[in-house]
Formats: sequence, structure tokens, C-alpha cells
Amino acid sequence: METVVSGIRSTGKLHLGNYYGAVKNFVQMQHEFNCFFFIADYHSLTTHPTPSDLHGNVKQVLIEYLAAGIDPEKATIYVQSDVPEIAELYLYLNMNAYMGELERSASFKDKVRSHPDNVNAGLLTYPVLMAADILIHKATKVPVGKDQEQHLEMARTFANRFNRLYSNEYFPEPYAFNFSNNLVKIPGLDGKGKMGKSEGEANAVYLSDSPEVIRKKVMRAVTDAGPTVENQEKPEAVKNLFDLMNVVSSADTLQHFDQLYNSCQIRYGDMKKQLSEDMIIATEPMRQRINDIAGDSSYLRQVARHGALKARESASKTIKEVREIIGFRNF
Ligand code: TRP
Repeated sequence: METVVSGIRSTGKLHLGNYYGAVKNFVQMQHEFNCFFFIADYHSLTTHPTPSDLHGNVKQVLIEYLAAGIDPEKATIYVQSDVPEIAELYLYLNMNAYMGELERSASFKDKVRSHPDNVNAGLLTYPVLMAADILIHKATKVPVGKDQEQHLEMARTFANRFNRLYSNEYFPEPYAFNFSNNLVKIPGLDGKGKMGKSEGEANAVYLSDSPEVIRKKVMRAVTDAGPTVENQEKPEAVKNLFDLMNVVSSADTLQHFDQLYNSCQIRYGDMKKQLSEDMIIATEPMRQRINDIAGDSSYLRQVARHGALKARESASKTIKEVREIIGFRNF
């Protein structure tokens, strides 16, 4: 059976973009593959969280993974920092990762632009750590969004370089994978790009948001003054609302508002009302479970321990073989 690895950075609560873009995919994949899903807390250190923020964020993501339906008996769910073998593989891979290629990565250039005061080496080698996350389980399938394509290409480069250096075929090549074949990009409410935490609190709808908060955020979503010509193309801000409706509402509902738009009769207030109610319905079961699971610390402890054990079993096998290949020997 093929092995799947994916992770989410532990920056706290999950939004609809995380859910529809990644976690929902994980839930479907866990039945068909050997899946490892982790919470990327080493990666989150690039932005220097306080100790209590770090733990709180990891806990929140774990709770929400479980609430969304990842089953710890089917998939291996673990916290990255519970598996020190990942850090060890990262060290080895760093020896074969070149400054030039790391500096050219789009995500690194973005960070240099957005946080010029914190361009640390961890940011530079972020793709190497990500490659270690994947290669530690020799995974071939990585369910991620389009924005991670370049990181996966780098993971393949590092895997192949290791293989060439040591003249073997130890690491398989990992590829981006989408279970349902349509890579869904979930837009934010600000009328611009994708839903994301860094774009501001009001841009994202969180799985844990209360119905009142969801209504308030959606009602404030950016639109335009309305269409003036029949069947005109939708500007990005308006298209975003339709894209969101496409994931949470029924096909009939979507079609209804599409027709109103095309005949210039749409009232965005009505559409937003419908959209927020459908978002509330779509997230309701998870919201309930988030509360239940959050209150059960012994269950969370058990899940984290069980996951760490299973992940380390796989990771330590790889590290043992990698050390052997590199040439470390016991006296
Ligand atoms: N870089 C990924 C993101 O920002 C998170 C991530 C870290 C990841 N390590 C990974 C995803 C390994 C897949 C596999 O979304």
C-alpha cells in the first residue's frame, strides 16, 4: 500500500481553507492508504511563538484534526516534535541542499519580503525540513495545495540527490496528490486571494467560529456594486463568494444565485445570508466535536502517545537505514 504524508503548520485553529483544501482530503485518504498526518510544530518555530502559544496551537490543531474526522485507529496522527528522527534526517539532508536553490524558492522570497526583520536559517531550510517530513516515511503521495508544488519538487530533488550520492535507490519520489482530483482553492472573504490567517482574522471562517461570528464575517465580505450587464464575467471578489458557495451549498442553491447574477437581479445580502447559513450547517458537527474533544485531555494524551509511537516506529527504521547508507558505524 502506498504511503501518504501530510502536515499542517501549527498556527492555531483551522479555517475552511484548511478543511476543504487539506483535511477533508486526509479524511478520505485514510481509508485507502497508509497515512501519516502530523502537526508541523518544528516548522512553526520560524516565527518564534511563546512556549504557551506553541503548545496551545498544537493542541488546537490536534483537536480539530480529530473533530474533522481523522481517525487515529486508521491514520497515524502525530506531533512532528514527538519524532526527533525527523530532525536528524533534516540535518543529513541539509548537507546536500544548496544555498542557491533554497534562496530561489518562492516561499522563501515571500518571507524575505514580508518579514525582512526575521530572515532566519530555519526559513531558508524550510523545504529541507518538509522533505524530511515526507522522506522519513518514504512516502510517495503528499496531499497538499497548489502553493506547495515547488516544495515537493525540492523534496524530489533532495531525495534523488541523496540516492545519487550514495548510489542507491533508497528514497522514492514524492508527488503532490489530490484525492478528489479537483484542487479546491478556498478564497477568503476580503475579495482578494486565498483564505488564510495571515490575511487578517476577518478574512477566514474558522471551524470553531460560532454561528453568530460566521454570520457577521460573511455579511462583511467584500463584493461590488452588482452586475449591470447580463451574463457578465464575475469580478474576483464576487467570484470568491460563488466559489465558497460551491463548497458549502447545494448545487441548486448555487445555480439559483448564479441565475440571479446573470440576470442582474442578485442581491448580495440575500446571497450572503444563504452562504452563512450553509457554512453554519456544514461546520456544525465539527463545532460540536471540537468542544467535546477539547474537554477530554486524557483522550488527547492517548491519541498523541499512540501516534508518536507509530510514527517513531516507521521513522526510526528509516533513520537506521540512512545512517548505515551514509556510513556511520558502531565500534
Ligand atoms: N508546508 C506545508 C504548508 O504550509 C506544511 C507542511 C510541512 C507539509 N511539512 C509538510 C505538508 C510535509 C506536507 C508534507 O501547507
